[in-house]
Amino acid sequence: MKFTAFAAVSALAITSASAAFAGPEAEVLHYWTSGGEAKSVAVLQQEFAAKGGTWTDMPVAGGGGDAAMTALRARVLSGNAPTAVQLKGPAIQEWYEEGVLADISSVAEASGWAAVLPESIANHMKCEGSWCAAPVNVHRVDWIWANAELLAANGIEMPTTWDEFNAAAEKLAAAGITPLAHGGQAWQDATVFEAVVLGVGGAEFFQQALVDLDTDALTSDTMVQAFDQMRTLRGYVDGNFSGRDWNLATAMVMNGEAAFQIMGDWAKGEFLAAGKVPGEDFLCASTPGDGFLYNVDSFAMFDVAGADKKAGQDLLAELIVGQNFQKVFNLNKGSIPARVDVALDEFDSCAHLSAADMTSSSEGGTLLPSYAHGMALRGAQAGAITDVVTAHFNSDMSSAEAVQMLADAVANSY
Ligand code: BGC
Repeated sequence: MKFTAFAAVSALAITSASAAFAGPEAEVLHYWTSGGEAKSVAVLQQEFAAKGGTWTDMPVAGGGGDAAMTALRARVLSGNAPTAVQLKGPAIQEWYEEGVLADISSVAEASGWAAVLPESIANHMKCEGSWCAAPVNVHRVDWIWANAELLAANGIEMPTTWDEFNAAAEKLAAAGITPLAHGGQAWQDATVFEAVVLGVGGAEFFQQALVDLDTDALTSDTMVQAFDQMRTLRGYVDGNFSGRDWNLATAMVMNGEAAFQIMGDWAKGEFLAAGKVPGEDFLCASTPGDGFLYNVDSFAMFDVAGADKKAGQDLLAELIVGQNFQKVFNLNKGSIPARVDVALDEFDSCAHLSAADMTSSSEGGTLLPSYAHGMALRGAQAGAITDVVTAHFNSDMSSAEAVQMLADAVANSY
């Protein structure tokens, strides 16, 4: 009797489960909405669909992801988390601490992620030893992009020091050309700032100031010099920069309306999506100074109910770290694969430079996490720094005032 009842119940459970399981499903929150970004995320959508997955797109426009993170918080607080979220750096661990992330260790182990990901990247994907995120790429932040024709026409080489950059900018300005394409958004100011801090202070200084948040470094003369260079750069930006999206700034370089942009290599995704050729139409070089600021995009899965969604999370995680996806996605995105075993033959010269510099920086101890792109610091500390950087850039605040404000803001952010 007992046995029969149990059998009947489990038969029922099996029937209803199979009737309910319609296949892998995922609602994906991301902020890849520019031309190059949309082309890149479409690769994941296609691979997911090819494996029978149903993708519900939740794009939240806004470079750098600030708006997406606000949307995410609202969703989680209302008890309706998306299945998969474009999330990176210490924010992954911050969400884990809130107890809302799914464990994807079974996929990571079955797919052998530990053997194909550099340890530095793998560490960002772990929460107390278990895998809680899947990496898609390595973006480099400290790049200068240039319009090749404008530089050639004005007899300018890609600058290798900030003095050279400033001299080139003065020459361009005298010729009536906007030297620097920039969008007046806090995260874009922060992007330029961290490249300047690395260039002016060097890798060790960057580590002390923007990773360890050492007060002496934050208030040092070197930091004053970094703010001086920010003030100089402000003078090279056109009058309409306020609120401009980063990809519109990239378009200015593409169209010859401005000569340079200081931006991560997602900008290259825009050039490529527009059919522009590196070395011919546009040039890339690392910003002056040694070192490499890395920014690894990744996806974290949120704890959601339902076999379809759980299957969707597993499938997404597996595809994201898959060899083919890592190649095709990154060819579009401007970044390089996170996996070490993806051949770079089809990648362009900027990607080869990025890969070579990443290896040499890693060996030389100058491979550093980007603060501006959420790889180095927790949200509160990164936000405190960015507020000061943008307040300085958009006012006539002196560099001395800025460093004081910086140290205070960091001290009050804990
Ligand atoms: C992300 C990139 C993205 C860029 C602009 C960065 O923080 O890592 O994937 O393309 O912001 O939105």
